[in-house]
Amino acid sequence: MKRVAVLASGRGSNFQAIIDAMKSGEITSGQCCGLITDNPDAYAIIMAREAGIPVSLLDYHCFSSREEYECGLIRAMHGTNADLFVLAGYMRILGTKIVSEFAGKIMNIHPALLPSFPGLHAQRQALECGVKVAGCTVHLVDEGMDTGPIILQECVPVLQEDTEESLSDRILFREHRCLPRAVQLFCEGRIRVEERRVYIL
Ligand code: GRF
Repeated sequence: MKRVAVLASGRGSNFQAIIDAMKSGEITSGQCCGLITDNPDAYAIIMAREAGIPVSLLDYHCFSSREEYECGLIRAMHGTNADLFVLAGYMRILGTKIVSEFAGKIMNIHPALLPSFPGLHAQRQALECGVKVAGCTVHLVDEGMDTGPIILQECVPVLQEDTEESLSDRILFREHRCLPRAVQLFCEGRIRVEERRVYIL
């Protein structure tokens, strides 16, 4: 059984999707061993408490520098003893030191079909660009911003009457399927990475 730690900054619906998938048996090879958050008001904290998952709060504003924060984060990540770290709405960029320390062990969910629309407000970027298909991507984290090898993607149509909110909701529904699937694949040891390509074994 692999140990899975989740990093989340806010609402935590993807975190909840992972918890639910572990309960329902969709994820059979992983157990959630901790939530790490940078936001004392993150709703994800309440979800973790309800599920009996230990929470590690690293309030960014309580650290004197970014370096100090990152050292704290590395300690917290090691403290979970996790095999896999899932960024589920974690709103800070991980420094290169963290990425290399946990290379190949961090995955992220992004609400766009990467490599299009990395960064913030991906759904708004998609609407403004006028694409007809949008979606979500689960990828491994490398030093870049949303640039790591892609594990899974799902697409949704963009409708003429869409707002940022309606499109985000449609994508989020797919995120909640895609992320648990990617977690299960990782925990089963079925992900092999060659250069930029991810092979599902
Ligand atoms: C999701 O849209 C995810 O793709 C993005 O941040 C959002 C987090 O939502 N990285 P939630 O906190 O999981 O509800």
